[in-house]
Amino acid sequence: MASEMKIPIVTILAFLLSLVKATQVEITQEWKPDFGWEVTCSWNLYMNDTLQSVNLSKNKQQFFIFRPETQYGNLRKTNTWDLVESVMKVDCLEAVDSGIKGKCVLSLEPQVPPRRDFTFGCEVSGERPYFRMGQREVTVEALVPPSKAVMNVMTPESGPASLNCSTSGLPAPNIIWTVDDQKVPPNFHGVPVWNATSKLWDVWSSFTPQPEALHRVQCTPEVKKGNQLVRGLASQYNDAYRIVLDGTMIIISALATLLL
Ligand SMILES: *[C@@H]1O[C@H](CO)[C@@H](O)[C@H](O)[C@H]1NC(C)=O
Ligand SMILES: *[C@@H]1O[C@H](CO)[C@@H](O)[C@H](O)[C@H]1NC(C)=O
Ligand SMILES: *[C@@H]1O[C@H](CO)[C@@H](O)[C@H](O)[C@H]1NC(C)=O
Ligand SMILES: *[C@@H]1O[C@H](CO)[C@@H](O)[C@H](O)[C@H]1NC(C)=O
Repeated sequence: MASEMKIPIVTILAFLLSLVKATQVEITQEWKPDFGWEVTCSWNLYMNDTLQSVNLSKNKQQFFIFRPETQYGNLRKTNTWDLVESVMKVDCLEAVDSGIKGKCVLSLEPQVPPRRDFTFGCEVSGERPYFRMGQREVTVEALVPPSKAVMNVMTPESGPASLNCSTSGLPAPNIIWTVDDQKVPPNFHGVPVWNATSKLWDVWSSFTPQPEALHRVQCTPEVKKGNQLVRGLASQYNDAYRIVLDGTMIIISALATLLL
């Protein structure tokens, strides 16, 4: 009787032990300029455990299994999917002489403007008898904060100078013009253009202020997604001053050329 009682207790202890010494799993994500997203799942097993499998999923759908044990001597497994909306790549690597550490890097290079968020899940299991598991899931948002606004001054041969402000982000940013912190409507704004190199939307907007108000004008980029609002760094007429100076210098040097 007594020996029969021991089995469940040992099982429970083993189970508790496996909980305490759980496998650690971390996921980090990054937007890489002129590329797209890079999402990294890294694991750290309990000391003398070994890796059984790593299951990766996207939007809850399992799409990749890394199992170094069955691919003996192969500590690395990669794959590429050429999808319509993106080129997706996975690179899983087990740290050479530890056997308990490793990482899978998912890179996703958009081929068309990204519209939807996605979830990325990583499930790591150690070997028998405990199969110590660890798992994480993150949401990768289709959101890239707008870049700092760039203001250009366009001075026509006659008439007032107008300002042209541009930025990029995801989704397409809005450009807000203010004079003395009062919002004013733009005169024109371009249709957002998706830039296949930066994978972001390029936008511009122009505004012709009263000449005396030039120094009090500011343009601020913002990206709106759902109920989130992310502002980028604003630009002011003074930021654009150098360009005006360059223009003046061209005129001066042109005059100098004429005078010579
Ligand atoms: C840990 O390693 C030692 C020695 O290699 C072994 O005896 C022991 O069973 C291992 N423990 C687990 C939980 O794997
Ligand atoms: C990974 O997926 C395989 C096949 O679907 C399954 O047998 C295994 O238990 C999964 N492993 C983990 C750690 O979820
Ligand atoms: C404003 O600047 C953008 C980008 O530099 C350019 O494509 C656009 O034509 C400019 N708009 C005007 C009205 O000059
Ligand atoms: C697209 O983005 C790249 C890299 O960020 C930039 O160098 C290029 O000027 C952009 N193209 C256009 C048409 O704006």
